[in-house]
Amino acid sequence: MGSFEIKPNIYWVGARDWNVRFFHGPAFSTHRGTTYNCYLIKDEIITLVDTVHEPFTEEMLNNLQEVINVKDIKQIVMNHIEPDHSGALPKLVQLVGQDVKIICSGKGKEAIEEHYGSGYNFQVVKTGDTISTGKNSLTFIEASMLHWPDSMFTYIKEEALLLPNDAFGQHLCVSELFDDKVDAGHLMGEAQKYYANILTPFSQLIIKKIQEIVSMDIKIDMIAPSHGIIWRQDPMKIVNAYLDWAKSEGKDKIVVVYETMWESTEQLAKAIVEGIMESGVSVSLHRMCQSDRNDLLQEVLDAKGLIVGSATINNSILPNLAPFLEELEVLKFKNKVGAAFGSHGWAGGAVEKIERFFNVSKIKIVKEGFKIKYKPTKEDLLNAKAFGKIIAEEVKKG
Ligand code: FEO
Repeated sequence: MGSFEIKPNIYWVGARDWNVRFFHGPAFSTHRGTTYNCYLIKDEIITLVDTVHEPFTEEMLNNLQEVINVKDIKQIVMNHIEPDHSGALPKLVQLVGQDVKIICSGKGKEAIEEHYGSGYNFQVVKTGDTISTGKNSLTFIEASMLHWPDSMFTYIKEEALLLPNDAFGQHLCVSELFDDKVDAGHLMGEAQKYYANILTPFSQLIIKKIQEIVSMDIKIDMIAPSHGIIWRQDPMKIVNAYLDWAKSEGKDKIVVVYETMWESTEQLAKAIVEGIMESGVSVSLHRMCQSDRNDLLQEVLDAKGLIVGSATINNSILPNLAPFLEELEVLKFKNKVGAAFGSHGWAGGAVEKIERFFNVSKIKIVKEGFKIKYKPTKEDLLNAKAFGKIIAEEVKKG
């Protein structure tokens, strides 16, 4: 028994991907797996909302078959066409019949045709359009660029149920897919990691979209996203968390990320951390080669300050720091202060390179980079500690 009822005659019929450890190719680490959620509305007009990643098609079909005869599906709402939600669509359409109605946004239609070819029976919808399935009505809310141009949400008024696809989701695979059944720390951590790594660039759109939904004055007592758990106990908890993360204000906390060649930069990093701790500001320290880039980006969202250090090689940074710094550039976190540090030999360059990344990422440099030659002396370490204190004071100013 894989399917389960989330509301009267509305069923989860998705798939669990327990073992996936990277998502979006190698771009996103998924330590706790993920799920591909899709929902069946068993009404007069049997309707499926979203599908699953193609390798999980059989699992979805088995779950559907538990509730209905798959051939009885009359329409499929595609909230989003990324392959983790649309991969099973061609096989499903083949089984149900080519005339099954595909309901999606205008951009969704384009994306389906560009992924899977033409010949589908589309009904294009826009914000405010409503269709009846019998006892239930489905209202659509376009959510372009949250996070693809085609994205939209489906709202079922009779059950106060919002199906927002990727929004409010998390890469988390558990046996009981409800917010009241999982560890709250794991849940909010995974939701925050998802936001930090995928949604941060769209923060202004997220604030506007949430305001738009609030202004529609609709009741929401369950949010069922397309990844991870379903918010039934406290759906507003994740909505409020999104509003908070979208502001990107962060806590009085500094994240120190470094890479070292002969431990000199590492000694500086530890001295800087000591200075921050003495100032009473929370801090976490991460050597890049032993850290997960996506976890670090989640920490950056959660913090006000970021300090990055590198030894110099060929007048630049140690290369394994580059992907992290490049992500800062594209994610564009707001309201962060930063500083750089590092040890060099006969010529520098790493600190300046980090500062260039900070500038393009709009991270405000609050103190000129801290640089030493070769190995740190006792005085250098004291100065590094003082450097940490200065950044901590800047973070406290907020
Ligand atoms: Fe879960 Fe944008 O796909």
